[in-house]
Amino acid sequence: MEPPSTLPNMSESHWAIDGGVLAAIERLVPEGGTVLELGSGDGTAALVERYTVYSVEDDEAWVGHCEGATYIHAPFNDPGGKRPGWYDVDALRQGLPETYDLLLIDGPAGHKGRDGILHHLDLFRTDVHILVDDTVRTHEADIARELAMRLNRPMHVFWNFSLIPTEPLNAEDVARIQWEAVRVLEKKDESFIKRYFRNPSPTRKIDRLEWYDKVRQLRDQDKAEISQSYSLRIGQVITFPIRLLLSFTKKRRSL
Ligand SMILES: C[S@@+](CC[C@H](N)C(=O)[O-])C[C@H]1O[C@@H](n2cnc3c(N)ncnc32)[C@H](O)[C@@H]1O
Repeated sequence: MEPPSTLPNMSESHWAIDGGVLAAIERLVPEGGTVLELGSGDGTAALVERYTVYSVEDDEAWVGHCEGATYIHAPFNDPGGKRPGWYDVDALRQGLPETYDLLLIDGPAGHKGRDGILHHLDLFRTDVHILVDDTVRTHEADIARELAMRLNRPMHVFWNFSLIPTEPLNAEDVARIQWEAVRVLEKKDESFIKRYFRNPSPTRKIDRLEWYDKVRQLRDQDKAEISQSYSLRIGQVITFPIRLLLSFTKKRRSL
């Protein structure tokens, strides 16, 4: 039996970040850390539960949507011609925080285009984790690929988002994120899948339990490796007299 997800209930809307994205952020950023989000929405509320959130938003209707987040209103600037529009750069320059642990690229709205970030990367920290949402779409996938190349970092690609962490993820992290990502994928109907993939029939059954088992297997393996490690054994030998003394004094106190 698989335990229920420990993540907050995520909205079913295609606009908001989903459980896979949230699981990825949770693996990378400890509770109390800071997330800088480009593009606000209902999903911002789930982030606010665990993190300090700065949310960049171009559309006034969504500014202040989520209580607890600090909003940076950066109106959409469309220079016309061939150059893509993006957030107002001066507003970003004035409003962006100096420190944060993760940059979440989920805005502006997909139809407006998001590749302004590639022209203004200097506005952002590049020594933090980066998560590009919606890389199921070619436009966002291209942005993620270019960021990973320019930052000289590996990229982990999940079915609908891509992660560019500061350090490569370990196998348990990948399995855990995949478990949540597949949970989301399992709920999508065929018409949604067909929008993004040529063939909606998977070669192997999409099964989140497979990933749940993998997480457990990797965790057990880790524990076994630690309990058999030489450094643990040496530590146990060195601390043996102290531990013996402590257990002796504890016993005497309880008499
Ligand atoms: C993909 S959404 C950002 C979603 C956000 N990161 C979240 O997790 O909820 C990109 C932009 O679409 C707009 N938006 C957000 N939620 C929306 C919704 N439910 N319907 C229509 N537009 C939305 C906002 O202007 C936002 O900046």
